[in-house]
Amino acid sequence: MNVHVLYLDEVDSTNTYAVKNFSSLPDGTLVVSSMQTAGRGRRGRVWQSPRGVNIYASLVVKSLANACLAGAVAGLAVLDTVRFFCPEARPFLKWPNDVYIRERKISGILCESAEIANGRITGLAAGMGLNVNLDSGALALIDQPATSMRMVSGGEFDLNKVINRLEKSLNMYYIMGIISEADLFSEWKKANRLIGWPLELVDGAGRHISGVFADICDDGAMLLEREGRRERFDCGDVRIRRDSVNWDKI
Ligand code: BTN
Repeated sequence: MNVHVLYLDEVDSTNTYAVKNFSSLPDGTLVVSSMQTAGRGRRGRVWQSPRGVNIYASLVVKSLANACLAGAVAGLAVLDTVRFFCPEARPFLKWPNDVYIRERKISGILCESAEIANGRITGLAAGMGLNVNLDSGALALIDQPATSMRMVSGGEFDLNKVINRLEKSLNMYYIMGIISEADLFSEWKKANRLIGWPLELVDGAGRHISGVFADICDDGAMLLEREGRRERFDCGDVRIRRDSVNWDKI
């Protein structure tokens, strides 16, 4: 396995492309497109994908048959990439795999199963959207607080350089996961910096649940503590309560 880039000029969604062409794409193919006409986010949301300003990429994952681990590879690699170019910005992972800078989202991950055999997932597409050169006008059109590498650093970035770094980071974390799932998992857990802080979770049914992010279970689920009890959530959207977090400690 070796992560390598396949460039497309335009596509509906790099995830859709990776899933549709999964059997013919080698393990570790990173499908990158200059734009997406139907970029998708989690929970049916649209992912804004204008031409030539951001990264839209999907990794073909055949050697880690688990959405939590594939998501961890993608989340950690994007986190490393943002840290490399914007070292002052102090990005972190917001469970499960969004990359945030303070209360603003800079990247989102969408893992989708691409191959199922005997009722088990055997292959995945790990999609990554990273806001690189998006300006304040375009960011204001996003339906949640968002930022870009340009906004946090004040300068524009060469997308090819960013893709190169992402490719290297993906390679490193993918190999780490193949060698030791436990090591990858522990890196991912360490990068989830909101553990211990109060927040709100919007669960699969749309309920808003407030509590303290107590821990992450061995299978990647989150534990939310409220009224002295810990409740487990496999999926959901974490909302940061801006005034409850001390950003200097994140
Ligand atoms: C989210 O935070 O909601 C996940 C966003 C994932 C967006 C990326 S962009 C590349 C890949 N193709 C898609 O259609 N979605 C993912």
